[in-house]
Amino acid sequence: MSFIFVGNWKMNPASAEDARHLFNAYKKLAQKFARKRVSFIVAPSAPHLGLLSQVKRPKNLFLAGQDVFYEREGPFTGFISPLMLYGIGTDYIILGHSERRTLGETNEIIAKKIKASVKVRLKPIVCIGESSRDTEGEFWHELRKQIEETFHGISKVEAGKVIIAYEPVWAVGEKSRGAIKPNDLQETILFIRKTFSHLYGGKLGRALPILYGGSVFSFDAKDLALVQGVSGFLAGRASLNKKEAATILDEIF
Ligand code: PGA
Repeated sequence: MSFIFVGNWKMNPASAEDARHLFNAYKKLAQKFARKRVSFIVAPSAPHLGLLSQVKRPKNLFLAGQDVFYEREGPFTGFISPLMLYGIGTDYIILGHSERRTLGETNEIIAKKIKASVKVRLKPIVCIGESSRDTEGEFWHELRKQIEETFHGISKVEAGKVIIAYEPVWAVGEKSRGAIKPNDLQETILFIRKTFSHLYGGKLGRALPILYGGSVFSFDAKDLALVQGVSGFLAGRASLNKKEAATILDEIF
């Protein structure tokens, strides 16, 4: 079994020194779990990404950006291009995080970013997830629409390079209701695979790596990791605490 642990540090920690410390903890974690075939993907803030990309790291520790623009270069004040990130040794890129969608990022923009990233061999981790769960099952429509629009115009070859992070918005962050129940996760993962199978064929639908994100902590990490078809986690708060991150992995393996 191979397992992916993504640490989305968001706009944390404030100092470069703290970022270095935390990254050192991930280096140790990556070494410890290398034989269990765990891959770690750390997504620091852009300035810290630049710093940490210069640090030697184990083969199973990767770097990710938290967002990127879709143009290659030019007069785009404040933006970072996929090529710039790739050029400094970034392997992955988180796209369409709910915190960015709330600030106005549309499915159409995310689709452009997927294309631009794949072009320079940055591997997209595309976040999807319903805003709330109702008893009538309206959220299934929301999820399907989001997937169809986010992948509109994305070819099968491009889609084959993507990792999906299923992050129900209601489960993300401090004000959330907490993580999804394993049974619901199981059902949703099947739904996501089915939706991708409709778009790109069953082979891609089955092979698609799907991570779960949203209030991942050590106390229910094992139950969530045991859900069939879960390829790993995308953790926010837990990823900033080196002890908690380590405990999550200890619980699973
Ligand atoms: P959380 O964040 O683990 O703090 O809920 C997850 C995410 O936003 O990716």
